[in-house]
Amino acid sequence: MSKVTTTREGEVLVVTLDNPPVNAFSTEVRNAMAAAVDEAANDEGVKAVVIRAEGRMFSGGADITEFGKPPVHPTLPELIDSIENLDKPVVVALNGTALGGGCEIALGCNYRIGIPATKIGLPEVKIGILPGAGGTQRLPRVVGVEEALPIIVTGNPVSSKKAEAIGLLDRIVAPENLRQEAIAFAREVAGRSEHPVSSKRTDRIDQHDPGVFKAFREKNARRLKGLDAPARCIEAVELATQLPYDEGIAKEREFFMELVMGDQSKALRHVFFAERQAGKIDGLPRDAVPLPISKVGIIGAGTMGGGIAMNFLSAGYDVTIVEREQEALDRGVGIIRKNYDATARKGRMSAEQVDKAMGHLTTSLDYQDLADCDLVIEAVFELMAIKKDVFGKLDTICKPEAIMASNTSYLDVNEIAACTSRPEQVVGLHFFSPANIMRLLEVVRGDRTSPQVMATAMDLAKKIGKVAVVSGVCHGFIGNRMLAKRQEQASELLMEGARPAQVDRVLTDFGFPMGPFQMADLAGLDIGWDPDKTSSSSVREVLCERGRRGQKTGKGFYDYDENRQRTPSDEVDAVIADFAVKSGKAQRDISDEEIRERQLYPMVNEGALILEEGVAQRASDIDTVWVNGYGWPPHTGGPMFWADTIGLDTVLAGLEKHGMEVSPLLRDKAAKGETFNG
Ligand code: 3HC
Ligand code: NAI
Repeated sequence: MSKVTTTREGEVLVVTLDNPPVNAFSTEVRNAMAAAVDEAANDEGVKAVVIRAEGRMFSGGADITEFGKPPVHPTLPELIDSIENLDKPVVVALNGTALGGGCEIALGCNYRIGIPATKIGLPEVKIGILPGAGGTQRLPRVVGVEEALPIIVTGNPVSSKKAEAIGLLDRIVAPENLRQEAIAFAREVAGRSEHPVSSKRTDRIDQHDPGVFKAFREKNARRLKGLDAPARCIEAVELATQLPYDEGIAKEREFFMELVMGDQSKALRHVFFAERQAGKIDGLPRDAVPLPISKVGIIGAGTMGGGIAMNFLSAGYDVTIVEREQEALDRGVGIIRKNYDATARKGRMSAEQVDKAMGHLTTSLDYQDLADCDLVIEAVFELMAIKKDVFGKLDTICKPEAIMASNTSYLDVNEIAACTSRPEQVVGLHFFSPANIMRLLEVVRGDRTSPQVMATAMDLAKKIGKVAVVSGVCHGFIGNRMLAKRQEQASELLMEGARPAQVDRVLTDFGFPMGPFQMADLAGLDIGWDPDKTSSSSVREVLCERGRRGQKTGKGFYDYDENRQRTPSDEVDAVIADFAVKSGKAQRDISDEEIRERQLYPMVNEGALILEEGVAQRASDIDTVWVNGYGWPPHTGGPMFWADTIGLDTVLAGLEKHGMEVSPLLRDKAAKGETFNG
């Protein structure tokens, strides 16, 4: 069955694209589409053309799996030119999302018709490239520079309404009528003598404000720092206003080739596929079909319980939160409401959507109210005794097929499962704070967790918009276990002469949104600190004792002003110096390079151990955890991909130079010249 078919509706040739799952423009599709364009050109009976698609979207764009390979003709730019050069009008019918090459195809057509659910975008920048099939030159000519810039540089799609308002869509029709309306539109325009041709238009770029590019660069400078693709995107749009179309296109191609072969795009493409791969569990039996989940119970309305609840409420699940005390329950529900109201104020939710989400929520102080839940997630204090007590109770209350999950950060999920009569129904669901925002979810597979429970957890994660990664049971699972290695070294570096601000800067220069000490100040230094048991045994303890508990107390590793601007603290320096003397370590100047190596290489090494032990299924899962849960800069691909890029022999040599542990897997792969990501 061809992926592109043609049918005749009188004088209109209807070209239908059908290449599931996302109608990507693979070589096969481009060839078939080129044949359809030839058919339209050569058949005198054809007076107009409709391009449409089957499936749940118009197209996800070019086939990303073909990137980095030699180009095969017809290339997408060639195909789009041939559509634009047809001497018959072409109407494109956008039955849903049209991204990247899908949007560029639409720009090559004379007329664009969509449905309310249509979204149009050029997300190439997110995979480290720029639109390479005319998008940077045609879009500004169709919608103007001011509108084109954010679409191309942020990569975020626009709604059908917005698309129509800026001239990217000519019409919006009801989904069930799209095909017929497109054909009618084609008949209507077939008689016209002239049609808009995107590449030939100048009306939207003649009048632009020349200061717009400088202003855009300045406004986004911080966000775009160090990234190759957004810089080229802006430059390409600017060139669209300065050069004739053909010369602009030649520059676009040059930039595209440069970016697509570059390390940043390779890393971002890795991240794209890694996230999708992470959702798959190797060796899962075919009969492990997800269980239906409609009612979710949550125990604990604290920081995590409330955020976790919001995920399910927003996705339309019924949620019951159970607390041990009314006050905590009221506080928790109040915070959920406040968060939703804030989202509504920013225009990201309507008042009706907020009410609908809140309408799914019930609260209780009685565990019995969890009896009819399909899934219960425990988010109480991080103490094994309490968790065991909770799971013991759940075991007597939950219905037989219910899944019982713990949001524990570090505790042994097997031990928790063992205190129930149904350990196969127990799983770890490790959300990240703030749980309503962070995309990562570690799904912790206990030794006895059933395949069906795992399949359900992965399926559910997708439904609530999370990126799920499977982790085996170990202290801290994938993410926190690796984080601990970084923190250990961060503290060591202080004892040897580095300062918090230097360590943080090295990591932010690398691309992290914040360094370890900024992170500690944000989270609170007193997590896990007990005022009754404190014994001034570490820098952190002393800081807590002195009331320096992080941003919330106005001071931690840094001092904060009323605008949360931080400055290094003499008091902290003195505490560090005191401990450094006690540790007997010589103080010295430590280079940024050494800090980077000692912060990042031990994490790679821990990742290798995690792989070796089978805690992670694959190296790319570790990358997914770090990019989505801990702010690892995506344009370096995550810790394991980054190690592959700089060379495992380099990492090995660095670890040895600093006298650090080397995992056998890392040593072996380095010796063989292999990579983690294959
Ligand atoms: N090329 C190849 N495969 C793609 C693809 C693409 N453009 N887009 C998605 N896929 C694959 C995914 O890897 C996944 O494969 P799997 O089932 O084997 O894991 C499958 O299609 C389904 O994808 P999702 O799970 O992501 O499906 P969703 O429905 O959640 O999302 C989507 C659909 C919004 C289209 C999303 O897949 C997406 O954002 N795709 C990438 C869009 C993009 O970056 N387009 C630009 C491509 S570059 C381009 O066009 C260059 C041009 O300018 C020259
Ligand atoms: P929290 O202290 O904010 O909330 C815990 C809530 O549980 C409190 O409201 C408390 O009243 C309630 N509670 C305690 N015992 C209970 C019981 N027996 N029955 C019903 N309710 C009970 O704690 P937080 O931060 O939400 O952490 C909860 C869990 O999530 C812990 O296991 C923690 O390790 C984990 N976690 C925390 C993260 C964070 O950043 N805070 C991140 C990821 C996981």
